[in-house]
Amino acid sequence: MERRTQMALLHRLFELIDSGGTQLNDACWQQSTEAYISAARLAWEREYLFSRYPLLVTHGSHVAAPGDYVTDDLGFVPLLLTRDGEGRLHAFANLCRHRGARLASGCGRDARAFVCPFHGWCYDLGGHLRNLVPRDGFAGLHRYGYGLVRLPVVERHGLVWVLPKAGAHIDETRLFADLDAELAAYGFSGFSHFETKVLHARTNWKLVIDGFLESWHFNVLHRQSIAPIFLSGVGLADRFGPHVRVVYPRRSVLQLRAQPESEWDLLKHSVVLYVLFPNTLVNWQGDHLEIWRVFPNKNGAPGECVAEASLYTPEPARTDSAREHWRRNMELLIRTVVEEDLAVAEDMQRGYEARVQTTMTFGRHEPALAFYHAQLGDESFTQKAESDRVDWSGRMRTPTS
Ligand code: FES
Ligand SMILES: [Fe+2]
Repeated sequence: MERRTQMALLHRLFELIDSGGTQLNDACWQQSTEAYISAARLAWEREYLFSRYPLLVTHGSHVAAPGDYVTDDLGFVPLLLTRDGEGRLHAFANLCRHRGARLASGCGRDARAFVCPFHGWCYDLGGHLRNLVPRDGFAGLHRYGYGLVRLPVVERHGLVWVLPKAGAHIDETRLFADLDAELAAYGFSGFSHFETKVLHARTNWKLVIDGFLESWHFNVLHRQSIAPIFLSGVGLADRFGPHVRVVYPRRSVLQLRAQPESEWDLLKHSVVLYVLFPNTLVNWQGDHLEIWRVFPNKNGAPGECVAEASLYTPEPARTDSAREHWRRNMELLIRTVVEEDLAVAEDMQRGYEARVQTTMTFGRHEPALAFYHAQLGDESFTQKAESDRVDWSGRMRTPTS
């Protein structure tokens, strides 16, 4: 984040702190609980959100060198990312063109080719079919027409996005939506992977993201864990196209008051959380980066999801004490989310499924929740001008039902 943005945010934070309040939305937001329990809504999300928006897949460090590859199965399209010998990054559907077997698994380095585990068709790192066997069996079929299905991919700020729709195009201007310079300033491309955890929860995927979008609950739900670190209930929320940025100050931000403004540093004294639409959280955690990717469970149940949390550090953890430091960070994060946030979210999901209370309320002091759900296509979204509803490939958005 650029310095002038940090200063502007710090001034806004101190104004809120001095007034004893937090940023307020214009009005309360009534949210239908149907959005969390409806199979039709999930089908729409799959068709629209998870097929027509670029989805953040990974950090670039996993596919940095020629021969690196990553597979990803959290979304509805199985993905294969490769870095070829010329350093070009490719994204493919991870499916063999013969009969659709899964081509590659896991991730790796120094790959030269991918051999299908079913009958042995072989593809290079650029997705070209190199060996079509047995030759007699496929007489008349030319291997040039049987490369892997290519998907649009963008690598920027150390992060990799894939649009899981063959033949579509990623509009980068729209994707980064005025956050380009701000994300660039973090230097995430030089960060190192420390650890990734995958969590399965019996809750709609949106409830995982909702849990990050207000800090009012810190002093209650998290009173034994992270509450002592933060100024609970104080936060800023701003929209950037479809994305939302949220800032939660740590208590240590108050120390800045005794320092000249030239020494103020927002990033040391706060969490800056970017909800990168539709399903990713990129969280600056004061001294490291945390990425959350959240997906519906592919079995079609609206009340189940999978969330992947990854921790990246500015420097590689080379010593035992560094590893222990980051291990404790990761452990606190996962324990807080699993034992506190997800435990409540799973109860909420069961409550919504009981269908006795069909709406809930986001207060004026929870603006990020309203911003996110407005973008997600709930009630107010359908009232927006049709011209406002253009998807990433330039087509008109499907109205929500
Ligand atoms: S499915 Fe891949 S070679 Fe047959
Ligand atoms: Fe929380």
